[in-house]
Amino acid sequence: MLVSAKEMLEKARDGKYAVGQFNINNLEWTKSILQVAEEMKSPVILGVSEGAGKYMTGFKTVAAMVKAMDEEMKISVPVALHLDHGTYEGCYKCIKAGFTSIMFDGSHYPIEENIAKTCELVKISNAMGLSIEAEVGSIGGEEDGVIGMGECADPNECKQVADLGVTMLAAGIGNIHGKYPANWKGLSFETLAAIKEKVGDMPLVLHGGTGIPAEMIKKAISLGVAKINVNTECQLSFQEATRKYIEAGKDLEGKGFDPRKLLAPGAEAIKQTVREKIELFGSANKA
Ligand code: 13P
Repeated sequence: MLVSAKEMLEKARDGKYAVGQFNINNLEWTKSILQVAEEMKSPVILGVSEGAGKYMTGFKTVAAMVKAMDEEMKISVPVALHLDHGTYEGCYKCIKAGFTSIMFDGSHYPIEENIAKTCELVKISNAMGLSIEAEVGSIGGEEDGVIGMGECADPNECKQVADLGVTMLAAGIGNIHGKYPANWKGLSFETLAAIKEKVGDMPLVLHGGTGIPAEMIKKAISLGVAKINVNTECQLSFQEATRKYIEAGKDLEGKGFDPRKLLAPGAEAIKQTVREKIELFGSANKA
């Protein structure tokens, strides 16, 4: 069931769990994530970066594929199709393509410009019944060409942006896209608590979900995080399982070259990662 992310995130905030956003790259990714969400009776958010959208030939293709899969697979759990780290133009494209949720990442603009653009997109999203995520501070590392210095968000700026009426707010708290370096200092719970204090009930989003230890995830949820984004970890699971299949020479046996066989271990590995995350985030049986 394709829906905006608003209701699922409000329920998660009130129930003290988080909904996973799993980024998609192609049909296998989407199918695996939807299968597990349905199996575990969990709400889910499918994240699409601008790079992944381009790879899949455009947001219209993505929206059509997700809508059709949701129907053909008879998915009964709430699913939001969400633009990840969207540009201003990307947001308009996704709204037009039929996404149910957008993220406008204006974190690299001066705060006044971030506020002005977010405000405009909030009005449109509200009018169309879509959910909208904004970002303050920045997520460190790189994701599909989006590079951040990883500065912690200013709680006062978070309040200014939250007051615009966004559905959810991503705030930099020392989190990083991709693998965490060995010398990573961990999440800044001080910053998170200060933001929570300012923004009250606003569901908060934790980006860079790959590799954050379980205790930190649980603490973040207890401090108001209601959505956690995972991308790299599914890619790594897929890569490892595919490598094993090929290194074991399975692609050379019988019809092992058939793409449905070749991609099956990777797809199964994505499913296992998604299962573990849904378990950890506490969203199983909350659909
Ligand atoms: P990871 O790739 O580190 O899991 O981050 C995902 C993310 O935050 C998507 O916006």
